[in-house]
Amino acid sequence: MESVQATKQRFGILGNDPKLNRAVEKAIQVAPTDISVLVTGESGVGKESIPKIIHSLSHRKHGKYIAVNCGAIPEGTIDSELFGHEKGAFTGATQTRSGYFEVADGGTIFLDEVGELPLTTQVRLLRILENGEFIKVGSSKVQKTNVRIVAATNLNMFEAIKKERFREDLYYRLSTVEIYLPPLRERQEDIHLLFRKFASDFAMKYKMPTIRLEDDAVKLLQNYRWNGNVRQLRNMAEQISVLEKERNINAEILKHYMPGYGDNLPAVIADKKKESDFSTEREILYKVLFDMKSDLNDLKKLTLELMQNGNNKKEQEDNESLIQEIYGRDEEDVESEEVRDEKLEVLQIPQNNLPDPQDKYYFAEEIEEEETLSLQDKELELIKKSLERHHGKRKAAAEELGISERTLYRKIKQYDL
Ligand SMILES: Nc1ncnc2c1ncn2[C@@H]1O[C@H](COP(=O)(O)OP(=O)(O)OP(=O)(O)O)[C@@H](O)[C@H]1O
Ligand SMILES: [Mg+2]
Repeated sequence: MESVQATKQRFGILGNDPKLNRAVEKAIQVAPTDISVLVTGESGVGKESIPKIIHSLSHRKHGKYIAVNCGAIPEGTIDSELFGHEKGAFTGATQTRSGYFEVADGGTIFLDEVGELPLTTQVRLLRILENGEFIKVGSSKVQKTNVRIVAATNLNMFEAIKKERFREDLYYRLSTVEIYLPPLRERQEDIHLLFRKFASDFAMKYKMPTIRLEDDAVKLLQNYRWNGNVRQLRNMAEQISVLEKERNINAEILKHYMPGYGDNLPAVIADKKKESDFSTEREILYKVLFDMKSDLNDLKKLTLELMQNGNNKKEQEDNESLIQEIYGRDEEDVESEEVRDEKLEVLQIPQNNLPDPQDKYYFAEEIEEEETLSLQDKELELIKKSLERHHGKRKAAAEELGISERTLYRKIKQYDL
């Protein structure tokens, strides 16, 4: 039997908390059987790794593994998605279609957010669990399938049963073995370890020096309530990695990234609102900021290469995808290839004015507005000087600068010279 440590390593699960280890151990133990497993725990605790472990360590590992997010499929189509439908079963059903349970025959199905399943679908699922039988929507023919079911939920299932949103018999069928993943706030020892790993991953991804936490920040991190658990910690590490210029993070800086810091209320599992505020608006803004930063870095890299190697076609060909990504290619824009090529012409700037391209953090770090503008300033200065030297004669100035007269004319207009 594979060891807990080896399995954690294989599936990228970090942490050494005894409750986490127990969960992984249970997954390893139950894997070779066909027993249904219910993975429980708050949002963001890492539930999605467990069904993968179970499938990969089972005799079904060469069969299909299908993950279905039950909460994301509209109620009207979920039965057809899961169990398939007959041609003509409903408007738009022009073909007979196999559902996931048929396709996954011999494999494993992961029913994520199983608590969101409509009651009618729960009845069909119960039948599959009991004897492997199902009926396509619009059919009367009973079919058989051999599928191992692993489900997950972050809901309190007893509450859902009490409110008659989840069938009690189905709950007991699904949770023959329950694997519970503890919330991050109960895994204090793991928090800093996880943060360090995420910080180092993001430093590598964004080519920036790794952020480090000072002692007071570590304490703060360990005593926070982490409603969004590991997902929130990971997002926070990403935000700080991208946004903080100071790479040594103290508690003061860290607090800005902890929503609701200070109100030490107990965590509420179903507090969806707070969490979605955090993970949607803020996250989207950070992503937009980062995408802009990333584009800027690409642009700098490309400009530098072109400047260092002169205006030759090869650089443009080699960097075609980058060029298209940065400048975009508007389908409706009918500008000629010639004009498009001209857009990429860049003036030769003396090498000693440029930062060291060997410095791997150069592109990532030089993001300040001043720096962004400095290339333009230098270009402007060069044009001015050249025009002065040639008493305003554009042809001579363009020749000296190594660009076409037309490009020079555009730049004169651009800089309002
Ligand atoms: N122990 C861990 N080590 C490394 N990464 C982890 C760990 N636990 C969770 N993560 C990461 O945290 C993120 C959230 O995990 P996951 O998607 O499995 O959450 P979940 O429990 O399914 O949450 P939800 O109920 O909201 O769907 C993922 O990016 C996952 O890789
Ligand atoms: Mg999930």
